[in-house]
Amino acid sequence: MTYANYTEVSAIRYTDAELSAEGETFSPRGLWTPRINPNNPLYRTLLDPFDVEQYLYPRPPVDMGNWDIGSVTTPNVLRLPIKNPEGAYHIPKELSSLFPLIKRVANYEMNINPRHAETFCHITYDVSQVGNGEYHRFPGFHGDGFQGAKFGPHQNTKHKEKIAIEHSYILVTDPGTELCLQPFFVTHLDESKHSEFLEFDAQAEEVNIFLTIPGHMYIFDPYIVHRSPVIVTDSKWGKRRTFIRITYTFSELEHPKNTVNPMFEPYEYEDRIDIRENLAKFGFEVPFHLYGLLKK
Ligand SMILES: [Fe+2]
Repeated sequence: MTYANYTEVSAIRYTDAELSAEGETFSPRGLWTPRINPNNPLYRTLLDPFDVEQYLYPRPPVDMGNWDIGSVTTPNVLRLPIKNPEGAYHIPKELSSLFPLIKRVANYEMNINPRHAETFCHITYDVSQVGNGEYHRFPGFHGDGFQGAKFGPHQNTKHKEKIAIEHSYILVTDPGTELCLQPFFVTHLDESKHSEFLEFDAQAEEVNIFLTIPGHMYIFDPYIVHRSPVIVTDSKWGKRRTFIRITYTFSELEHPKNTVNPMFEPYEYEDRIDIRENLAKFGFEVPFHLYGLLKK
């Protein structure tokens, strides 16, 4: 994927791993563990409905430190469901080398999320050789779990209002994810026609960009604006990069490209378009007076 076609959200790589119906089933015990960076606002808004105003208040992700992922041998999976509400975790055996990591995340999650039982959980594992000048994941600034017009009163969709946000545990190897820590002014956009993600790109200042530390586990919520870095390498084979994400949501992500978990009852999701492809660039200066500010 190159930057020229980055608005094509569906260009994110898909995989068709065939997994088996045998594996490990477990429920975390929820034993006490210290809360990391307990004053990070992420914990306070963890169960609140999505609120686009939160982009005004920059927040770094919660850094859980270096996690030795050892030698993981598992096929790539995309948004593989591993837990449904009121159910246990079901991890197909092909992912056995990820069991310890998934269990550690599940235990931490149970400690910080009093509504853990109600959540859906899915995992993406993606190890790829990424060529020079290309991107491993989505290269434009965005928030994971952004709730747009699909969660609105006038739409012909399941959700008539914003729901509690999703959040994810994310670990990448070198190079880290790029974070942009600054206010983003997007409440004046019309979510049914303007792309907030393109506006993030327009407003992001180079000086405010930071990198996550390779090999560290982080907790991200939708308000942490980030993008995948461009890969720079001399090797004609490209650079090998690992991406692991475990996501908790209160609404099932019914995407037909999700890897199927045969440990659950058979299911299928309908084809759908990604509405982000139909949103337009706002294309005007930010009306700072609407935010009670004047530009110096
Ligand atoms: Fe992302």
